[in-house]
Amino acid sequence: MIVDHIRPTVQSVHRVLPNVTREGRMKIDIRTDLVGEQLEQAWHRYDTAFRHLNALTVQRHLMYRSEFDDVMTDTRVEKWLAYSDDGVLLGLATYTNQLSAWPLISPEYFARRWPAHYADNRIWYCGFVAVPGHEQGVFTKLIEAMYRHAEEHDGVISLDICRHNMETYRLDRAIGVWLRRISGGRVRCEAADSQTFMTYETAPAA
Ligand SMILES: CC(C)(COP(=O)(O)OP(=O)(O)OC[C@H]1O[C@@H](n2cnc3c(N)ncnc32)[C@H](O)[C@@H]1OP(=O)(O)O)[C@@H](O)C(=O)NCCC(=O)NCCS
Repeated sequence: MIVDHIRPTVQSVHRVLPNVTREGRMKIDIRTDLVGEQLEQAWHRYDTAFRHLNALTVQRHLMYRSEFDDVMTDTRVEKWLAYSDDGVLLGLATYTNQLSAWPLISPEYFARRWPAHYADNRIWYCGFVAVPGHEQGVFTKLIEAMYRHAEEHDGVISLDICRHNMETYRLDRAIGVWLRRISGGRVRCEAADSQTFMTYETAPAA
């Protein structure tokens, strides 16, 4: 597919994707800035999903509230919000094709590997996915919706998964299996990079 330069998200946008899970209806609401009650709800859901990871991972996964607020109001970063039919926020994710908007990833990496995609803003970074209540189908529908968006533009998606989620839940494998299924086997998954945190005990217990 030949695509024109995909417009970066820079202004306030609100789109709604109707969707259905096995357990009932849900919709995915895409917003570029969250404020007021929506921001409070998003923080509550995010905090509930991620707080326990801080004790399990060397790298801090839970953003400070101020960092979270910055991301939620940064219009370059889309917020994908999964709501139940009766308006309960079940899960949320961030998604951006403005790679410099996401702290601690290097746009130059993506520019080197996929120069044409990069020039066209066809590389998306998913900063996090949080489904604290683990309602069935919400995670997979969010992942699928984000995949379909990139797929429309023959794009590339990147995200990071901590070792805990790989070892305990095989989350990398679960996402790969799901994407292979919905793409009819077309998607190519690759572990692009990793970072090892070392510790050196000066007086290790025997
Ligand atoms: C990761 C997460 C979004 C998955 O949502 P979920 O509703 O638990 O997803 P599902 O039940 O559909 O499970 C999807 C896969 O994730 C794994 N998973 C289940 N619970 C999980 C948990 N607490 N943390 C991470 N992965 C989990 C499952 O093993 C499953 O793989 P499988 O299909 O091979 O069994 C959700 O568990 C969560 O919000 N975790 C905390 C935040 C987080 O770690 N986010 C991911 C990194 S950005």
